[in-house]
Amino acid sequence: MGRLEGRVALVTGGGTGIGRAIAERFASEGARVAICGRREEKLKETADAIDGKVTYFTLDMRDLDAVERSISAVADEHGGLHVLVNNAGISGPTPYEEVTHEQWRDILTTNLDGAYFAARAALRRMKDHDHGRIINIGTIGAHTPFPGWTAYCASKAALVGVTKCLAMEVAARGITVNSILPGWVKSDMSDAGVRSIAAAMGKSVEEAMPAILADVPLGRMSDADEVAAMAVHLASEDGRGMTGSSVVISNGAYMN
Ligand SMILES: NC(=O)c1ccc[n+]([C@@H]2O[C@H](COP(=O)([O-])OP(=O)(O)OC[C@H]3O[C@@H](n4cnc5c(N)ncnc54)[C@H](OP(=O)(O)O)[C@@H]3O)[C@@H](O)[C@H]2O)c1
Repeated sequence: MGRLEGRVALVTGGGTGIGRAIAERFASEGARVAICGRREEKLKETADAIDGKVTYFTLDMRDLDAVERSISAVADEHGGLHVLVNNAGISGPTPYEEVTHEQWRDILTTNLDGAYFAARAALRRMKDHDHGRIINIGTIGAHTPFPGWTAYCASKAALVGVTKCLAMEVAARGITVNSILPGWVKSDMSDAGVRSIAAAMGKSVEEAMPAILADVPLGRMSDADEVAAMAVHLASEDGRGMTGSSVVISNGAYMN
């Protein structure tokens, strides 16, 4: 029997990268999984690959009314909701001399506002003492600076604050709220990040890679599945004693 048998889970940004890996792991552990994101073709590709066990719908996390409506609809469709993984996110450089109000708001609204109101909608539909779990995907940039990526780091640092406050607010209901803070994880987002750092160094990706990994004691990037394994732990009975925590998976790049 899977560790998430009988659970209903929603993974935002579940069509690609880390979200897709979490959806795959959750489904293989017996959960009924819904995924959402803006690109329907990515969601369909992921749902098809997971053999019809996963449902999907398009959603823009910046549309906060739609976020609340859709999460309620998922709970209606599946007869409840146990696990929300706030994984959808965007990143990118925002140096202070160049960042526009629009870029700043875009990152904060997607990564922070969307996640918070998704959590609120999910909490309204989770039953007390019935395996309720919120898992927020942050970054080590919440604790250690990525120079020139202020909007991204600020959004994820605030998400750690959300994690701790909500964890306290809902503890009496037997619901847990935790964050996972990854370092480099292979995905479209990290590919773009590496390209941008390499460009800023005036180097090719191959030339820049040793310098990028020099800050990572284990000298590697994680696979998305490593984050997914921790998400299963937090979502399952095994994680019942963890709340308000931030679990770092960074190959040693940040040690808390
Ligand atoms: N890869 C890393 O090194 C790394 C490290 C630390 C933390 N993270 C975090 O991990 C999470 C997943 O990132 P990833 O690495 O797997 O990259 P990714 O493949 O780019 O995943 C991001 C996902 O978020 C969705 N998304 C973005 N904006 C959205 C919006 N407005 N509404 C709905 N969905 C939206 C994207 O789908 P659509 O574009 O189709 O909407 C995509 O599926 C992010 O929160 C990221 O900050 C990644």
